[in-house]
Amino acid sequence: MLKGKTAVITGSGRGIGKAIAMKLAGFGANIVINDIPSSDYADQTCEEIKALGVEAIVVKGDVRSSEDVANLVKTAVDKFGRIDIFVNNAGITRDGLMLRMSEEDWDLVLDINLKGAFNCIKAVSRIMMKQKGGSIINIASVVGEMGNPGQANYSASKAGLIGLTKTTAKEFAKKGIRCNAVAPGFIASDMTDKLSDEVKKQYYAGIPMGRFGDVGDVADVVAFLASDLSGYVTGQVINVDGGLLM
Ligand SMILES: NC(=O)c1ccc[n+]([C@@H]2O[C@H](COP(=O)([O-])OP(=O)(O)OC[C@H]3O[C@@H](n4cnc5c(N)ncnc54)[C@H](O)[C@@H]3O)[C@@H](O)[C@H]2O)c1
Repeated sequence: MLKGKTAVITGSGRGIGKAIAMKLAGFGANIVINDIPSSDYADQTCEEIKALGVEAIVVKGDVRSSEDVANLVKTAVDKFGRIDIFVNNAGITRDGLMLRMSEEDWDLVLDINLKGAFNCIKAVSRIMMKQKGGSIINIASVVGEMGNPGQANYSASKAGLIGLTKTTAKEFAKKGIRCNAVAPGFIASDMTDKLSDEVKKQYYAGIPMGRFGDVGDVADVVAFLASDLSGYVTGQVINVDGGLLM
């Protein structure tokens, strides 16, 4: 389905990003893994992807830095000649109730989750315009649609990412570039592992399907949006949440 295509996934050394990279590789795409400079696990992920029979490289860098992002895009194009799929997955949380949230935690989350995606879209859209096509997929969150106590910074970043998705879709539709968002609910990963049992119980109670999501549940929908199966789909937000938000 994706044979000969090139996919770049930010923050893909582990977690949901890694699952996306493995899934797209399973469909035949060559993979560019990005993660922060200290992410030793990204090299291990790269080996696992190569074992699937595709080509893969690691380009470390911080999505907050437009220089790092320029290097990511240039290295991907130098190696594979093109970028067909770009997934903005890198993201963090710094939770705390609004009254206690520091300006620093607000800025950090907005910088990585939202400005990082802006940096990447700006850089990759130039390449995709020259190619006359591409698919950009942003990993948002259901809390960007419904809000969540303790996550003012995170929910604002993900709501912003949804706005950025729709604007990107409108600006580039005529150039053959599609842009969509996937909004996961509660997915078992390192990010959610650190939540208290109380918070986990509350989420669980609100999920009609009666289970937490798996990283593969998100990767499946990303693969659909990356492929021509979604050729007439742009500017959409697809929730992957077991029915948590409907
Ligand atoms: N786990 C969930 O329940 C859930 C729900 C909704 C949305 N999401 C979103 O899914 C994405 C992946 O989350 P995850 O659960 O796999 O988390 P994770 O913490 O396991 O993975 C995030 C990855 O992003 C990398 N990263 C962090 N800052 C970066 C930066 N500045 N530049 C490049 N890479 C950076 C990390 O090193 C890590 O490898 C995030 O955007 C997150 O907000 C997760």
